[in-house]
Amino acid sequence: MCGIVAYFGRKSAQPILIEGLKRLEYRGYDSAGLALLHNGAFEVFKTSGRIANLEEMLPAVTPDAGLGIGHTRWATHGLPNTINAHPHVDYTGKIVLVHNGIIENYATLKKWLLKEGCTFKSETDTEVAANLIGYFYQKNRTRDGRNCPSDCNRFEWAVQQALNEIYGTYGMAILCLDCPDTLIGIKKGSPLILGVGKNEFIIASDAAAIIEHTSQAVYLSDGEMVTICGDSFSTKTIANEKVDAELKEIEISLDQIELEGFTHYMQKEIAEQPASLETCLNGRIDLKNGRVVLGGIQSRLRELARTKRIILTACGTAWHAGLVGEFLFEQLARIPAEVEYASEFRYRNPILEEGTIVIAISQSGETADTLAAVEQAKERGAIVLGAVNVVGSTIARMTDAGVYLRVGPEIGVASTKAFTAQVAVLSMLAIELGRRRHLSNEVAENLLKELVAIPGKIKRILDQSDVIREIAAANIDKDNWLFLGRGFNYPVALEGALKLKEISYIHAEGLPAAEMKHGPIALITDGMPAVFVATRCAQYDKIIGNIEEVRARGGRTIVVATEGDDAIGPYADHIVYVPDTVDYFQPMLTAVPLQIMAYHAAVLRGHDVDKPRNLAKSVTVE
Ligand code: AGP
Repeated sequence: MCGIVAYFGRKSAQPILIEGLKRLEYRGYDSAGLALLHNGAFEVFKTSGRIANLEEMLPAVTPDAGLGIGHTRWATHGLPNTINAHPHVDYTGKIVLVHNGIIENYATLKKWLLKEGCTFKSETDTEVAANLIGYFYQKNRTRDGRNCPSDCNRFEWAVQQALNEIYGTYGMAILCLDCPDTLIGIKKGSPLILGVGKNEFIIASDAAAIIEHTSQAVYLSDGEMVTICGDSFSTKTIANEKVDAELKEIEISLDQIELEGFTHYMQKEIAEQPASLETCLNGRIDLKNGRVVLGGIQSRLRELARTKRIILTACGTAWHAGLVGEFLFEQLARIPAEVEYASEFRYRNPILEEGTIVIAISQSGETADTLAAVEQAKERGAIVLGAVNVVGSTIARMTDAGVYLRVGPEIGVASTKAFTAQVAVLSMLAIELGRRRHLSNEVAENLLKELVAIPGKIKRILDQSDVIREIAAANIDKDNWLFLGRGFNYPVALEGALKLKEISYIHAEGLPAAEMKHGPIALITDGMPAVFVATRCAQYDKIIGNIEEVRARGGRTIVVATEGDDAIGPYADHIVYVPDTVDYFQPMLTAVPLQIMAYHAAVLRGHDVDKPRNLAKSVTVE
């Protein structure tokens, strides 16, 4: 999604904005721009395409131009061209802003503003916000005739009046030509963080753009605004009520957001999984007593163990982890569970009986659909838990309690280490709830012992990267793949298909293997790749039958099998072995070769692995 960076301090803003925008590139974008307020004038530079295009048009750095705003745009309203790129200046020329989000009622507001004599240059909803602020600032009068109170800062007041008219989501950074010592940031439904440095302030969509300047931050909540004036700042609600800002330590480090010798972030994050999963599990498993300790929800575990139903809600890869979670809660805790696409759940007027638990799964903690599903669940009185990676993210702060994934920043658009951590968190929770219901201590202890062994087992899979690369190379000329699995590996088949689709642009479909004969087997053509996750599991013999169905029709079988399985050979054109583990934990292993295969396929096809076309790391708009 869009990225925002704004700077106010004693250094030159231009290079800081550019470096900050580069840190946000992974969010996905199609145009970029920045505006400086210097010597009583706005200097605005913007272009379609990459940040490198923007750099080419910038003048030499002006050392004392210490106030500016920058933006990477992921088009929602209007083509991804220069005129629609941010920043947008209002019709009076007094206001300039950048925006991440969607103004739902922009058309109605635009109609009214045009009637009031405002002019527009772009097709964007964002320009409506700029003109709305400019209108109230210039007229110094609200639509119902009220003037700005004499003791109010008119720039702040105009922003508040405009926001009272806007329905939608926004993270914004705003400058006013008459206020060369002021920078305003506002947040509602899109992320925005204030970094507080030594005589300098950075506002950004993501801590990755802040951390090299300061580790102190204020995580704005929805409906809050921050006004930086001179060398101090104040926070208040959009309704002008004072808010006491809480400074927090940013928990990511610079090296965590550097490539550290890898070619791509996705490659790094796949390789990090043994370590990231260990970090996710550390301190949360008491092997001696067969217990799980999940600080964020410990006080609610008794209540959670009594629940009659669990609904997991998420999008994309997080939804696939949720499907594993559904099976885990049903098999280990015997609690009815179902996973819901957040985008559907939010509009389905869901029935949530008293005591239902809703678990929102999200790496970014900013996905608009998942955020809306959380809001729906809270409105209906459900207990809402989060399984989120980004600390301080909107979803993390909206849920009643939660468990952080603790795998560090995931920058590659294709989610990898977050998936294995989401499954690990759901596994721990299912074991703990099961143990509080009917699971014996002995079974719980054995499961936890196996869970802590998973990171080491992933390491053994990573060593097969070259083998997997050859498999990808032998099949990337095929434009249609199938991914098939059963039981706990059915969600892995879905995840493997998504990975391949989203970065190699090869069409792939994930299915429960038994579903083949209900239609999809008609797709099988000579040499068509069919990836089977056929590890030693409860339905091993059944999936062998499915493999034979595909081979009998000329399909090419790529099989993920269990180490030591000597019987699988005749059924596979290609084999990748994974260590054995209990069915429940297999997704944390069997997903890894599929991540690696998708990675190599994308590289071999020459695609931008970390920033695949049309995609964003966090979909903060509907
Ligand atoms: C996964 O590789 C995709 N990038 C996408 O499906 C992602 O999982 C989905 O958008 C949900 O994102 P979240 O986990 O940040 O909510």
